[in-house]
Amino acid sequence: MRHLIAFLALCLSAPLLFATDLSGIWASSVKPPDGHTDRQVLVLRQSGNELTGKWERAWGNLTIHQGMINGNHFELKAKTDDGYTISCEGTLDGDKLRFKVHEPNIMPYELTAVRSTTDPFVVANVIAPPAVKDLAPNGLAKTPPMGWNSWNLFAGKIDDKTVRGMADALVSSGMRDAGYIYLNIDDTWEGDRDAKGVIHSNNKFPDMKALADYVHSKGLKFGIYSSPGPYTCAGYEGSYGHEAQDAKTYAAWGVDYLKYDWCSASRLYPDSAMRAVYQKMGDALRATKRPIVYSLCQYGRDNVWTWGDKVGGNLWRTTGDINDTYKRMMEIADTQSAIAKFAGPGHWNDPDMLEIGNGGMTTDEYRTHMSLWAMFAAPLLAGNDVRKMTDDTKSILLNKEVIAVDQDPLGKQGQLAFKRGDVDYWKRELSGGGAAIAVVNRANAPTSVTIPWADLGIGSNFVFKEVWSGLDVKSQSNSSFTIPPHGVVLLRMEMVH
Ligand code: GLA
Repeated sequence: MRHLIAFLALCLSAPLLFATDLSGIWASSVKPPDGHTDRQVLVLRQSGNELTGKWERAWGNLTIHQGMINGNHFELKAKTDDGYTISCEGTLDGDKLRFKVHEPNIMPYELTAVRSTTDPFVVANVIAPPAVKDLAPNGLAKTPPMGWNSWNLFAGKIDDKTVRGMADALVSSGMRDAGYIYLNIDDTWEGDRDAKGVIHSNNKFPDMKALADYVHSKGLKFGIYSSPGPYTCAGYEGSYGHEAQDAKTYAAWGVDYLKYDWCSASRLYPDSAMRAVYQKMGDALRATKRPIVYSLCQYGRDNVWTWGDKVGGNLWRTTGDINDTYKRMMEIADTQSAIAKFAGPGHWNDPDMLEIGNGGMTTDEYRTHMSLWAMFAAPLLAGNDVRKMTDDTKSILLNKEVIAVDQDPLGKQGQLAFKRGDVDYWKRELSGGGAAIAVVNRANAPTSVTIPWADLGIGSNFVFKEVWSGLDVKSQSNSSFTIPPHGVVLLRMEMVH
């Protein structure tokens, strides 16, 4: 009997005695086909069968909002604050967690994680940013930079071959000659660092120097991307602790433009340190003696427009990311007026890259996008496939009149003058006493307007051309227009003496 009781007691307590406890830090590190190192970390707490904690990616953390373990089988669901959700299911296999990850828009993939005593994403002894000072202007970007960037359409699918194709197409399409000079590779070019800390490109870019030479041979300039944090937004190697070294590498490759994206620096520094952190790379770029346009990307935090030029920045993003919808494009447009006065030759507000030609907006909406960006004196970085542009896309991106508004040498950003019902009136002062007026119809139906010249402060001594419909010079008495839904009328005013 005693034996039976002991046996039953053992059976009952076995799940407790031998129950797995996944609490702790689990780290996984793999090299996807492009050859960069991708790290993921699970920081788990187990209570009974329930698992909570966080799932860390190089680009940020997700909170585990649903997790359970049953025997050796476990399942997790995690999401970011803005709702991006990933999940996995797997098993504890000896001392390893083997699991399959599901995330939006990519094929499920397998990971193996092992216990770790430290969290690879927690940086000990964060390097103190330098004391703040004012850098003199670098003399670049007297007008807003124009070019092409890989992110909006290609994201992680950009490679050497595509960049070369884009260089050829920028020339053959006339884009280069219209002013689109910078060919900028965004995130996901980065490989790992070598033993000396030198950054290398990954398998998608076998020889960055050769690629830069090719781009230069086409009469274009070459741009690249990094982050002041340990990792970029896509989870690739950033420049943290290697700023001067990376600036030298870029200069040796022949880089003419750097977009520097805050991303994982937010794990290390508060927003109040942004200015000093950006200054560090501004200084490092100067030290190379190569003229490199410096593009700050920190989504308009910490009123970057009040200090962006003082860290050597030639442009700074003013908002979070654009996407290829009229709604998002207009949300961004609506925030630009208030900060107009901070832009000027050499230092520009950047409402993000163009989506024109990517298919998510109507031709009229894309004309509005281009017109407003020109009114904002915004950098014009096309984000479409320049190798296959429709005639509509070409007619927008290559329109010389709208480009002239954007590139006006006075460099004064336009502002919203007023709204009348669904119609927004924007005004921008141009050099030589000229002006540009953009009239945007926000309604879902066509609308008719007669331009209210006096309210716009335009005297009778002006004539104008409508940029999109043709170049006939018109007098003010001839100023009634029907504007399509979400469309625009863009007027270039010229004074007559
Ligand atoms: C951020 C930036 C984007 C792009 C991606 C790349 O989201 O705002 O413009 O550079 O990172 O990962």
